[in-house]
Amino acid sequence: LDRFCLGLEPQTQRRCTSTIPAIKTPTGSKTADFVKKSKTFQAIQEERREQAERSVLISCPAKFSEKKFLDFFSKHGTVNKHFFYNSFGAYAVVEFSNKESIASLKESTGIPAVDHEAAVPFKSRLLSLKWPGIQSSNYPTPNFKEQSPPNIGDISNLLLQKHSVDEQLRCLTETLQLTEENISLRFLVCSLLGDIAGAYFPECIIRPFGSTVNSFGKLGCDVDMILDLDGIYARSQKKGSGLSLEYQVKTGPSERAVTQSILSVVGKCVDQFGPGCVGVQNILQARCPIVRFAHQPSGFQCDLTANNKVAMKSSELLFLYGHLDPRVRHLVFSVRCWARAHSITSSIPGAWITNFSLTVMVVFFLQQRSPAMLPTLDRLKELAGPSDKCVIEGNDCTIVSDLSKIALQKNTDTLEKLLQEFFEFYGNFPFNKASINIRKGKEQSKPEAAALHIQNPFEATLNVSKNVNAAQLERFVKLCQESAWLFQQKENLEPGSTQSNGSVSPWGFAALLAPSVASGTGVKSRRKKKTEPASSRIKNLLDSLKIKGGETVAKKGSA
Ligand code: CTP
Ligand code: MG
Repeated sequence: LDRFCLGLEPQTQRRCTSTIPAIKTPTGSKTADFVKKSKTFQAIQEERREQAERSVLISCPAKFSEKKFLDFFSKHGTVNKHFFYNSFGAYAVVEFSNKESIASLKESTGIPAVDHEAAVPFKSRLLSLKWPGIQSSNYPTPNFKEQSPPNIGDISNLLLQKHSVDEQLRCLTETLQLTEENISLRFLVCSLLGDIAGAYFPECIIRPFGSTVNSFGKLGCDVDMILDLDGIYARSQKKGSGLSLEYQVKTGPSERAVTQSILSVVGKCVDQFGPGCVGVQNILQARCPIVRFAHQPSGFQCDLTANNKVAMKSSELLFLYGHLDPRVRHLVFSVRCWARAHSITSSIPGAWITNFSLTVMVVFFLQQRSPAMLPTLDRLKELAGPSDKCVIEGNDCTIVSDLSKIALQKNTDTLEKLLQEFFEFYGNFPFNKASINIRKGKEQSKPEAAALHIQNPFEATLNVSKNVNAAQLERFVKLCQESAWLFQQKENLEPGSTQSNGSVSPWGFAALLAPSVASGTGVKSRRKKKTEPASSRIKNLLDSLKIKGGETVAKKGSA
């Protein structure tokens, strides 16, 4: 089962991830598949947020009895869920059935007396469990849930045990995607931060966005958070005809200045009062001001922004695309993993292509298939109902929220074919003149002189990949070309032979991850073509791409 349907009941999960059956369209056409009705993005987020509010994060001793642990917490109310994990020490997430249990737990919790220092008496939901007496080492070890992704070597070994490229790509998603527990922990960290910001703005909500919620998150990815102050403004809009009161407020010269000032105060509180929050940096002059910090007990790198509703809508859009067809996620996970393995993307900000850009590029590519695998953003807007209407800062961000209104065309391409053609498509894309535009699902002419132009889905004047320079784009294109060439060699697509030392030669997606591909020497070094000079290999590759590219252009022209 794909875990991205988390938050849905088990039955819904099965429905959502199984092959979507062809059903009749209301007009009687049998050609389209409709996506089955499932919970909306907002409903899933709201459910998770509410669960997090009923949860606590507990630092545990090295050895303890799980039974005694649960007995202790159950005294404060029914424990709905709990799990353990390691992050420089043992931790537990405990979710109660009722929020009152948290109050009861806090009631019986004391502020520690610290030697030679003084404690900031901020009562958060990050607690330490003290286990009196000598701890027995005979306690059975609880099951600790992994929160980190496997390394690239382990991933490659796992992939080599599969029997086809399609199996490899599905396995990759299952291995890298966020787990149920990891998503819960992310929402809990946001909720803990919400308690800090709530000291000033009680109605505020800190919501995760980006890859935590867009269905493309990989274990270990950062937690992007928005400080949502809408709850405050909602109350002030109620106007009656009689007498009324208004709060006296301080004002700033612009919305941006107010956001900066709020974030700077919240950042300061996180730094000075936030247990477990370290390395707090206020990056307030950025286009999108953020407070960046590490949350040690969870091991998460966090970016807190405010007033960034469009980014939340982009997360919903990607979530929607990720839910329409399981192949979308498999392809995005593969491309992201491939890009990371070859340092096309990086965790350090710079002139690199980002995961967000790559995801939009995959969506665009899938819109170009024949028949198209994904609808355009304009189509998602057409299908929207009155309650979906959404305008943010003058940008129309309306998209349909009910997936069952979306009809998909029948496209039966295998993942192997899709990945191969993704590389061919971008290995041959006219980046010098064309802009990638998922709203229209068609290339548009580039409005400005950026190396890579990807129109922001909801803010048409913005380029998502403005940071990318020509050198980084060229590396990406070269790698696409080499990977396309590698996949054109049929022997690379079948399980590799077992060597005398028991190892399996890299094949399929594992071959694409090999570092030698990026350097141009290629995995071919183990095969017959090893003697062929690199220059002639590249020339052959370019020739083959030109032909394929020509076909692609012709098809698009006739469509
Ligand atoms: N975003 C955007 N425009 C950009 C960069 C980011 O709108 N140029 C928004 C997107 O909604 C994106 C979110 O900000 O999903 C978070 O950005 P980032 O952390 O860079 O990307 P993620 O999608 O979260 O991917 P990653 O796993 O790399 O964190
Ligand atoms: Mg992110």
